[in-house]
Amino acid sequence: MNITLRQLKVFSSVVKHNSYTRAAEDLNLSQPAVSMQIKQLENQVRLPLLEHVGKKIYLTQAGQIVLQHARDVLQQIDDLDAVLNEYKEPGHGRLRIAAATTANYFAPALLRIFHERYPLVSVHLDVTNRKALLAQLAENDVDMVIMGMPPGEMDLEAGSFMENPLVVIAPPDHAFATGKKIPLRALEKEIFLVREKGSGTRQAMERFFRKHDLKITYGMEVSSDEAIKQSVQAGLGLGLMSRDAVQMELTLGRLIIPDIQRFPLMRSWYLVSRKGKHLSPSAQAFRDFVLNEAKGLLRKPPISAL
Ligand code: PGA
Repeated sequence: MNITLRQLKVFSSVVKHNSYTRAAEDLNLSQPAVSMQIKQLENQVRLPLLEHVGKKIYLTQAGQIVLQHARDVLQQIDDLDAVLNEYKEPGHGRLRIAAATTANYFAPALLRIFHERYPLVSVHLDVTNRKALLAQLAENDVDMVIMGMPPGEMDLEAGSFMENPLVVIAPPDHAFATGKKIPLRALEKEIFLVREKGSGTRQAMERFFRKHDLKITYGMEVSSDEAIKQSVQAGLGLGLMSRDAVQMELTLGRLIIPDIQRFPLMRSWYLVSRKGKHLSPSAQAFRDFVLNEAKGLLRKPPISAL
């Protein structure tokens, strides 16, 4: 059977008005076009659907069954239209965000505010390292990613929205605690704990030490900022990470940021999506929200206070 929606619409209109002429007016068609549609529908089902007795039109038994199904189908199309209309405005649907592990220190606060504005958007947040973020972008598995430096080799739409200073962290009893403008070379006598390969922080750190031609001794490889902070507090070495990740430990006096020349190492946080990706209205609303408001909402002490 090759029934069209148009045939079903014409058929149910003829039944509703009990008239070909009024159905034609209703649907903005000519009367012969209406007759043609009904004939084609009857040809498809291979049964008569309407009978003309006197001046009235009656449904055959098959016509009653077809009418029932036609109404169901047309109702479903109306429902679909209504549901899709909701997606034409922000506030509905699903939003898939992935954030660098370090961004996890502020991403939930942003999502909370976004959720207050758009409570019906269901947000999925995946927190992982830079390498995994790039894989998710390449696979088109996410709408947007919050990360440090976006890579040059992928076709991406990237907007920076907040500074991301990288700092050296040390335990409070470290000799650096009282030093002022400690020269970079002094770092060569220290041991640095490093994040896992694939971490954006590690990449930035290695690049910085290479650029300044420093011979750094690397200690344990640790796969999370949390574990690095614990290890630094335990005296296993120094660490280097986003200042966003150490706010609480600084406040509690568990870690310090020594005054080392050329630090902090200035980077930015970026909101990144694939170029050409069709962002839903909710995803666009999230993008605008982060790019325009995140910095103001996540008030932080000025860099000069580091
Ligand atoms: P990371 O990401 O968690 O992979 O180190 C932070 C960044 O890209 O700057």
